[in-house]
Amino acid sequence: MSIAQSFSDGFVWGAATAAFQIEGALDADGRGESIWDRFSRTPGNIRNGDSAAIACDHYNLWQKDVAIMKEIGLNGYRFSISWPRVFPSGTGKMNPAGLGFYDRLVDALLEAGITPFPTLYHWDLPQGLEDAGGWPRRSTAYAFADYAGAVVEHLGDRVKHWVTINEPWCVVELGYRFGEHAPGRRDASAALDAAHHVMLAHGLGMQAAKAAASGVAVGIAKNVDVKTPRSTHPADIRVAALEDAFRNRWYLDPVFRGEYPHDGVVARNWDQACVLPGDLDAISAPMDFVGFNYYSRTVVQDNSVSDAERPRPLVEADLPRTTMGWEVYPDGLRDLLVRFNGDYQLPPVYVTENGVAFPDQLVDGAVHDENRRVYLEQHFAAAAEAHAAGVPLRGYFIWTLMDNFEWAMGYTPRFGLVWTDFDTQERILKDSARWLGEEISRG
Ligand code: FCB
Repeated sequence: MSIAQSFSDGFVWGAATAAFQIEGALDADGRGESIWDRFSRTPGNIRNGDSAAIACDHYNLWQKDVAIMKEIGLNGYRFSISWPRVFPSGTGKMNPAGLGFYDRLVDALLEAGITPFPTLYHWDLPQGLEDAGGWPRRSTAYAFADYAGAVVEHLGDRVKHWVTINEPWCVVELGYRFGEHAPGRRDASAALDAAHHVMLAHGLGMQAAKAAASGVAVGIAKNVDVKTPRSTHPADIRVAALEDAFRNRWYLDPVFRGEYPHDGVVARNWDQACVLPGDLDAISAPMDFVGFNYYSRTVVQDNSVSDAERPRPLVEADLPRTTMGWEVYPDGLRDLLVRFNGDYQLPPVYVTENGVAFPDQLVDGAVHDENRRVYLEQHFAAAAEAHAAGVPLRGYFIWTLMDNFEWAMGYTPRFGLVWTDFDTQERILKDSARWLGEEISRG
């Protein structure tokens, strides 16, 4: 039996991308500046000083990319809409030319039999909104809701699945706490406010989307990660539980339970002053589906405990790692899906991202990425186990369609099913893409 046969009829097999990582054409047709334009131009922020000015030139080559998805045999495509293309300064006057690009893309996808799953926010906040305070300011959530409503009003007649926010943890922690991603701020208190406003944006955006078009399904794409304690020492276990609160539950408890996780709130000594009456009702309004992005686990420990004090190590550091340095840990996908389904009684679930960067080589016009095939096969099997255990899994999106601009890591990690030649913009299907197509067609 093929792995595809483990899932129900109508299962969505797709690839995922994000606007800033593939589109290029940063000044085309009235697009405004985003925080990633500014951040990536600042020396020292991106490995090798790589620039996303051209990336995969998808803004011009989108027809070719739709044809490639069709050639692989995908029936879903998760992409993101660039907010500053639609509202160049974040609010105010809409830019029809920017929206027109997505209009054409959606029509071409439908024509090719590929269901569009756009994400409204995959990290490219209009710089104008950051200049006004960014996500730590409540008004940014209102601006997002207006933007979401406007986009869904235009495309909602044809696009029935919408993701509000991609990976709130990354937006907040990498962007505002650690400064590794745009806008590059390092301010723990601002990050706490940003977290709430990003979640509020999800809630208000969902309301706006549903008001703008009938019959649209709306959800969020949440990155989730297993936090494995280094040992059975109680201090390691405590730190792992807290890390789980910060990474997973901080964003899942509010949408499924209408509250922030108590242990995390206490540990961060957070007064919740920015949480106004009604906010958590909006945030916890039922979603039509939930997306999970899964890549790896992290082993965590309490650094005040010496190795000699550790009783029995729970983990040996011997798992293979990817170009990103992430451990390959397929069981984590099954374990998290099963756990969250038990904790939250999940609505329909999509794996909205899973995939891997390995040091691919193009040899004689081919990429023999057996390691990626194995990675995908193992993760599909883990997802099938979760499905068999009752998780209502409806689709799976591979990160990513083609090698692209991997944020602060630039062009070094190659995550694509398709090889991108960044000099010629040639696309070459890797072996894993062909294998995936065969799997899907046997489903
Ligand atoms: C996720 C992001 C995506 C990509 C992958 C590798 O965190 O959503 O844009 O960078 O990681």
